[in-house]
Amino acid sequence: MKIAIIGAGNMGGAIARGLARGKKISSSHIFVSNRGNAKLEALKAEFPELNMTTNNKEATWMADVVLLAVKPWLVEGVLKELDLDAERQILVSVVAGIPFTQYVEWLGKEMTIFRVIPNTAISQLESMTLIASYRASAEQECWMLDIFNEMGLAMLIPESQMAATTALTSCGIAYVLKYIQAAMQAGIELGVYPKDAQRMVAQSVKGAASLILNNDTHPSVEIDKVTTPGGITIRGINELDHEGFSSAIIKAMKVSCVK
Ligand SMILES: NC(=O)c1ccc[n+]([C@@H]2O[C@H](COP(=O)([O-])OP(=O)(O)OC[C@H]3O[C@@H](n4cnc5c(N)ncnc54)[C@H](OP(=O)(O)O)[C@@H]3O)[C@@H](O)[C@H]2O)c1
Repeated sequence: MKIAIIGAGNMGGAIARGLARGKKISSSHIFVSNRGNAKLEALKAEFPELNMTTNNKEATWMADVVLLAVKPWLVEGVLKELDLDAERQILVSVVAGIPFTQYVEWLGKEMTIFRVIPNTAISQLESMTLIASYRASAEQECWMLDIFNEMGLAMLIPESQMAATTALTSCGIAYVLKYIQAAMQAGIELGVYPKDAQRMVAQSVKGAASLILNNDTHPSVEIDKVTTPGGITIRGINELDHEGFSSAIIKAMKVSCVK
C-alpha cells in the first residue's frame, strides 16, 4: 500500500511522522508533497527514507491512498489538479467541514472517500481520530482504523456525527489544555513553581484519562473515589458547579459544533 500526503503542515506533517514511526506502511511507500520546500526539508532531516516532492501529481502517481491535508479553501483546486483514479485510488481527507457530497461534486465522479479528523496529539501518537467513510468496504474501513489506531485511538462514526464529535475531540483538546492552564495559575498563586505545576497538572490529567480508558468506568465512579464526605475535594467540586463549570463546558462544546 502506497500513500501520498498532500500538505506537510501541522496535520499532514504529524501524520507523515506518525506513519513513518509506525509499522503499517513502509516509509519508502510514503510520498509527501507540499507547496514550499522548507517543511519537506525538515521532514526529510528526521525521516530520510520518506519521499518528498513539491509536485502533487508526482506524489500521487503511484499512490493507492491520497491523503489531503491542505486548508479547506484549497481542496477544490488540488482535487482538480490531481484528477484521481476512482477505480484504483482512495481519497482520505483530514480537512474539517467539507461533506462527502461536496467532494463528489468537485471530483465529478464517485469514489471511495474517508473523512478523518485527528487532533493535535497525533504528533505524540495520542490522537483521538474520527473516521467517516463513503463507498468503502469493511476491509478498507478496518485498514483505516488500523492505520490511525497506531497513532492513538480511532473510531468509525457516521458522517452525521462529524460536527458534534469534532467539537468533543478536535476542539475539546484545547478545552482540556485550558483546564491545565487554569490549574497552573492556581498552583502558582498558591506558591508552586510554574514548571512544577505544569508537570503535576498534566500528569493528573493524563492519569484521569487513563482511569477512564483503562477501567472503562463512568467519571462519576472515579470522582466518588476521591470525594470523602466533609473532605477537601467535594468542597472544590461543589465550588466548580456553583461557578458553572459543567455548564461552561457544555456551552463551549455546543458552540464549537458547527453543522
Ligand atoms: N490543526 C488541527 O488541529 C486540525 C485538526 C483536524 C483537521 N485539520 C485540517 O487539516 C487541514 C490542514 O490544517 P493544518 O493545520 O495542517 O494547516 P497548515 O499547517 O497550514 O498546513 C497546510 C499545508 O498545506 C501546504 N499547501 C498549501 N497549498 C498546497 C498545495 N496546493 N499543494 C500542496 N501543499 C499545499 C502548505 O504549504 P506551505 O506552508 O509551504 O504553503 C502547508 O504546509 C485543514 O484543512 C484543517 O481543517 C486540522
